[in-house]
Amino acid sequence: MPSNALAAIVLAAGKGTRMKSELPKGLFPICGQPMAKLVGETLKSAGAERVVVVVGHGGDLMIEALGDGFEYVWQREQNGTGHAALMAESALGTFEGPVVICAADTPLLDEATLRALVEEHREAHADLTMATAHLPDPSGYGRVVRDVHNRATKIVEEKDANPKIKAIKEVNSGLYCVNASILFRLLSTLSNKNAQGEYYLTDIVEAVFESGGRVETRSFPPSILLGVNDRWQLAEAEESYRKQVIRRHCLNGVTVVDPNTTYISANAQIGAETVIFPMTHILGASVIGESCEIGPSTMIKDSTVGVGCTVLMSHMNRAKLGNDVRVGPYSNIRPGTSLGDGVKVGNFVEIKNAELGGRASVSHLTYIGDATIGSETNIGAGTITCNYDGYKKYRTTIGEGAFIGSNSTLIAPVAIGDGAIIAAGSVINEDVPADALGLGRARQEVKEEWAQKWRKRKQTD
Ligand code: UD1
Ligand code: CA
Repeated sequence: MPSNALAAIVLAAGKGTRMKSELPKGLFPICGQPMAKLVGETLKSAGAERVVVVVGHGGDLMIEALGDGFEYVWQREQNGTGHAALMAESALGTFEGPVVICAADTPLLDEATLRALVEEHREAHADLTMATAHLPDPSGYGRVVRDVHNRATKIVEEKDANPKIKAIKEVNSGLYCVNASILFRLLSTLSNKNAQGEYYLTDIVEAVFESGGRVETRSFPPSILLGVNDRWQLAEAEESYRKQVIRRHCLNGVTVVDPNTTYISANAQIGAETVIFPMTHILGASVIGESCEIGPSTMIKDSTVGVGCTVLMSHMNRAKLGNDVRVGPYSNIRPGTSLGDGVKVGNFVEIKNAELGGRASVSHLTYIGDATIGSETNIGAGTITCNYDGYKKYRTTIGEGAFIGSNSTLIAPVAIGDGAIIAAGSVINEDVPADALGLGRARQEVKEEWAQKWRKRKQTD
C-alpha cells in the first residue's frame, strides 16, 4: 500500500531585497494575512500533514506571526533556495513520501493546484514534479530547458541564461513535489558555482534527471503562480486574491454589490443572505452573521456581528453586536463594546468599552465610554459620559428601562438605577436611585413682557 503521507516545505528565510523593507517578505500581508501563512494554510488544506517553514531573515517575527500550526527550521545565512530547502532535513530527514516545496512569496497558490501537482506526481511515479507556467514575458523567472524528447532536463536562472535560453517562455514557478529520500540526498550535492554564488534549489531538477530519476512537469495558469518580489507584484497579488475571497463569499450566498470597492480579509466569515454595499472593508478575524446589511462606506475590523444587523456608513473595531442591531450612519463602535439584541445606535454616536442591554437606544450625537447600560434604556441626543478626569477612567452604570434626557452630562463614577429619569440638560455627578428623577440644571426663570421692554429701550437709544 503506497502511503498517502504528504509533507511540505515553505521557503521563507530570504530578506526580499526588492521589497525595500525591514519586514521579512513572507510577512507582507495579502488581504490582511502574511503571505507565508496563506501559503502554509493552503498546503495544509491540500493535505500536507506537516508543514515545515524555513525561517531566517526576521525569523523570530515570522514564527510569532505564523504560530503553532507549523514546524520551523532556521537558515541562519541565506545561501540560496537549495540551501534553504536542505535546512528542512533536520525535520523531514526520516520522512517517507512526497514533499511539496514552495516559496512564501507565491500567495495565489490554491488548494486545487497543489492537489493536481501531487496527483500528477503520484500517478506518474515521478521522483520530481515541477509546476511550470507559460509567460509572454518570462523575465525574472528560471527557464525550463527541455531535450529533443521534450523531457525537462534542467532549470536555468535568468542571471545565468544565454539569449537562447532567455527566449524560452516556459518558466519555473518555484513549486515542486519531490520524494523526500531523493530530495535531501541530492540537495547536499548541489554547487554554488553560478552568477549569484548561491545554492539553487532549481539545480535539483538537473540532479534528478542526471541520476536517472523521473522528472515530470505540469503547466498551470500563470496567475496562480505569481511570485511577489516587489511591491507592485504585491499589489497585483492583493487585487487577484481579494477577488478570489469575494468570489468565495458570493458563491456561499453573500451579495457583494461592488467587488471593485469591497475589501474582505482572507479570514473573515460572512453568513448567507448578507448584503455588502460598496466601499466597505471587513477586516481581520471579523465574523458577520446571516441576513445583515453592511455598508456602504463601512469599516468592520476584528468584530462580531450577529444575525439581521444593519451597519450603515460606520466604523467598528474589536466590538460585538448581537442580533437585529442597527448601527449608523456615522457611528464609531470602538474596542470592548458589546451591543445586545435589538440595540439601536444612530448618527454621530461613539461607544467605547461599554455594554448595552437588549433594545437599548442611543440615537444621536452621543459619547458612551466605560459604561454598562441596561436593556430598553433610552439615551437622549447629546448625552456624554464623562469617563476621564485627565488621570483615570471611571465607569457609568445605568439600569434597565431608564430614560436619559437629551444633553445630559453624566460624570463618572456614577450609577443611575432601573427606570430612573434624568431631566434633559442635567449634569449628574451623584447616584440616582431606581425610579427617581435626577435633575441637575439651573431652574428656569420667566420674566413677563421683558423682551418687549428691552426692544423698546433699544429703539429709543
Ligand atoms: C525562484 C527560482 C526561479 C523561479 C522563481 C519563481 C531559484 C534559484 N529560483 O527565483 O527559478 O522562477 O522562484 O517565483 O530557486 N529563500 C530562502 N533562503 C534563501 C533564498 C531564498 O528561504 O537563501 C526563499 C525566499 O524567502 C523566497 C523563496 O525562497 O520566499 C524564493 O526566493 P526568491 O529570491 O524570491 O527567488 P526568485 O528569484 O524569485
Ligand atoms: Ca520569488
